[in-house]
Amino acid sequence: MTQLAGSAAAFVAARDVGMLATANAAGMPSVVPVCYAWDGTDLWIALDAKPKQVSDPLRLRRVRDIQARPQVALAVHDYLAGAWAQLAHVLIRGEAHIVMPGAESHTAAVELLRAKYPEYRAMPIDARPAIAIRPAHVTAWGAVAERAMRPATLEAVIPGRRSVRRFSDREVARDQVERILDAARWFPSPHGCQLWRFAVLTRPETKAHLAQAMGVEWQATLAQDGESPAVVAQRMEVSRERIRSAPVLIVPCLYLADLDPYPDSERQAAETTMAVQSLGAAIQNMLLSAYQAGLDMGWMCAPLFCQTVVQAALDLPVGWLPQALLPLGYAAADPKHRPRRPLDELVRWDD
Ligand SMILES: Cc1cc2nc3c(=O)[nH]c(=O)nc-3n(C[C@H](O)[C@H](O)[C@H](O)COP(=O)(O)O)c2cc1C
Repeated sequence: MTQLAGSAAAFVAARDVGMLATANAAGMPSVVPVCYAWDGTDLWIALDAKPKQVSDPLRLRRVRDIQARPQVALAVHDYLAGAWAQLAHVLIRGEAHIVMPGAESHTAAVELLRAKYPEYRAMPIDARPAIAIRPAHVTAWGAVAERAMRPATLEAVIPGRRSVRRFSDREVARDQVERILDAARWFPSPHGCQLWRFAVLTRPETKAHLAQAMGVEWQATLAQDGESPAVVAQRMEVSRERIRSAPVLIVPCLYLADLDPYPDSERQAAETTMAVQSLGAAIQNMLLSAYQAGLDMGWMCAPLFCQTVVQAALDLPVGWLPQALLPLGYAAADPKHRPRRPLDELVRWDD
């Protein structure tokens, strides 16, 4: 490929750091991590005021190298420990040149860099030279297209995640599911006693059986609430379909046998609340881990309302108390993010 385009361009634009390789006149190579922005034609690197060994940006080794030998390479990659099917790497080779402040392209690049890296808004990068790289040869390797859809850092994964309610029929590899379950283990738990257990459903007949069993219970509840038979039938079908069509279902359960016993019911109830809080945190770990790995998850609370039905349908071990259903797969479409209240509505400081 000679162009930086398509999924390779999207992947590079969605990452924050690349490794810039230059060489001096004698061919001695150097590599430095750099922040960059892509304007569709050139990749731009600011010569910013992060701590450097020299204060004059034109004395930097990378600048002297480029002036002597403009051929450079920029490597951008994603590494997800334990998920090597998701490794991705883009190598861009091209010619670099130094652009001085005042040039129109420099002004536009500074805007792009400041939009991508808020730290640059307080730095005088508009008054300093920048490096522009024009790609001449691009190599993309691995899951670049998939990784382009997901951010690389936790700061971006947290607001990126969203509940998914409809999935494509693409299968989910077992090691992907294991990786997500493993993420759940690392959340805090009261007294460290890890009061969670997880049932995992992948077989169509198990999912259909669960959907059927929960449906019978729910149907009775809706009828009791006075819903019309047509509404009941429609809501039942939507719910059954959500359960049956999810490629994988995780049923997070509380397991309270290891909870500290108290003589009074008030403290016992507080202990149980702690366990519930902890399970919520474990679920959130799974949601973030799935999203980062390119998968999608939802959250259905229905098992809370029919615990014994779920226990019986899945033949769960004694003491496993089902709390939710987490459908896992690849989203059928990209759902919208639900808006969030501003922080000042939610937070009270002591000043
Ligand atoms: C305890 C809990 C129970 C939930 N139960 C359901 C549910 O039964 N059905 C559903 O579609 N979403 C359910 N959700 C998902 C919320 O609707 C969703 O998180 C919320 O609307 C915010 O959207 P987001 O997750 O896309 O950011 C549940 C979320 C939580 C935390």
